[in-house]
Amino acid sequence: MLTLQEIKQQPIPQHIAVIMDGNGRWAKEHGQQRLAGHQQGAHALREVMEGSIMLGVQYLTVYAFSIENWNRSQDEVLGLMQLFVHTCKEELPTLQKYGVCFHAIGNLSMLDNYCREAIQEVEEKTKHNTTLHFQVAISYGSRWEIVDAAKQIAKDVKDGKIALESIDEQLFSNYLQTKNIPDPDLLIRTSGEYRISNYLLWQIAYSELYFTDCYWPDFTKEKLFLAVENYQNRERRFGKTSEQIK
Ligand code: IPE
Ligand code: IPE
Ligand code: MG
Repeated sequence: MLTLQEIKQQPIPQHIAVIMDGNGRWAKEHGQQRLAGHQQGAHALREVMEGSIMLGVQYLTVYAFSIENWNRSQDEVLGLMQLFVHTCKEELPTLQKYGVCFHAIGNLSMLDNYCREAIQEVEEKTKHNTTLHFQVAISYGSRWEIVDAAKQIAKDVKDGKIALESIDEQLFSNYLQTKNIPDPDLLIRTSGEYRISNYLLWQIAYSELYFTDCYWPDFTKEKLFLAVENYQNRERRFGKTSEQIK
């Protein structure tokens, strides 16, 4: 394992996306309720945020709650929403201290008012911060996002705001939740599952994928650094040959 200084001498991913999975199984292994796993997961998130800042990562986007997660028990959903709001309020001073700009992505219209208000408050108070752009995907689903973008584009064409001919990949990206955010360079998923679970499907077209068996609550800065070290050993070819990019 390299030191932080050594890692920083190699290209650092500009944008890291994370699927924070395995809280439930972590709790089960520790003989606790699922919610205890989610609480512990919030600590791991702090670790990854701090680690990202230490590395000089500019964008961090984490999957906190999927649209499909609304199908979980009422108790778990409520517990997660309360934890989310609590964490927003509790971590606001830390976000300010580090200069983190917070932004939520997802179908926020499905959230309760108190949740949306908590999000708006943190977004408003951190909007001028520039050290790290931190996106939390909540009530997020990539297919919903893409369909929603298609609808908005159709409406803008119908209303004469844009021409049909002007629709290209760049314009489409600008209608996604992640507009103005570069695509992830590295996607990390914890918990040993090898799937994407409806996360950033458009945006990860050329991301490097990193899977680890570690449950999310056990994820640390050091594990983040390992993932980045692994990323640095990849060759990103974007369709070209190895010889072409050398
Ligand atoms: C991830 O952990 C957090 C959310 C999906 C909200 P899980 O709750 O999915 O944990 P496992 O996958 O059941 O272990
Ligand atoms: C993905 O985890 C969503 C989040 C981490 C928030 P899930 O635990 O919901 O994913 P699946 O259902 O196992 O694919
Ligand atoms: Mg899971």
